[in-house]
Amino acid sequence: MVNGKLLERIKKTVAEQAVKDNLEEGMVVGVGSGSTIIYAINMMGQMNRELGGLDIVCIPTSHQSSQLITQNKLKLGSLTEYPELDIVIDGVDEIDSHLNAIKGGGGCLLQEKIVASNTNNFIVVLDYKKRSFNLGTNWKNGVPIEIHPIAFKPLMTKFIQLGGKPTLRQGIKKLGPVITDNGNFIVDVNFGLIENPESLNAKLKAIPGVLETGFFIQMISTAYIGEESGKITIEKKKRN
Ligand code: A5P
Repeated sequence: MVNGKLLERIKKTVAEQAVKDNLEEGMVVGVGSGSTIIYAINMMGQMNRELGGLDIVCIPTSHQSSQLITQNKLKLGSLTEYPELDIVIDGVDEIDSHLNAIKGGGGCLLQEKIVASNTNNFIVVLDYKKRSFNLGTNWKNGVPIEIHPIAFKPLMTKFIQLGGKPTLRQGIKKLGPVITDNGNFIVDVNFGLIENPESLNAKLKAIPGVLETGFFIQMISTAYIGEESGKITIEKKKRN
């Protein structure tokens, strides 16, 4: 079992490699959120400094990502100005054997999904602990779902009717629920082992008040997985 320091090294190696392999001058780049992606943004910042200016535009997926882009003196853009992205790089909470993922552990899933839906090259970076055959195996915190606050009470019942155990995500150093970057609530719904995420996602998205789910179905093009050995496994979406 790897310790925390080694896991951070794995996350750093995999995030930096994904940037080195995929970033090119002139690109519009979607930048994800979370702790793994920090290493990817810092790598872009390093390239920016070393080259005396990197000709890329970064589209953020959260307040955190926006801050990191500006701290690294990278050019910040928006989907309004740049609606088509060359690549998007992000982390995941869990990925299955079909490259479907759960995201939103950091509460940024809505913007992350909007940004990722505007590229044909969605790259995710993760450590080996997040890989499983079925979603819900390693990620035990439930599927993050962003909801409109007024729908909180009826939605809790509807999530139970769909077989889930919902928990309204609570703030840390803030009383009451987490408020997302978009002013909404997050409910983490534990569905146990998820054999058909596509069907569950469709049912959830059909409920008024559900703004977005943490399921990223058939969206990922390439996954960079940092192995315990230090090696990197690259998995690509199978073409139909
Ligand atoms: C943010 O809401 C999430 O989707 C993150 O991308 C995901 O939780 C991965 O984060 P870590 O890299 O911190 O595990």
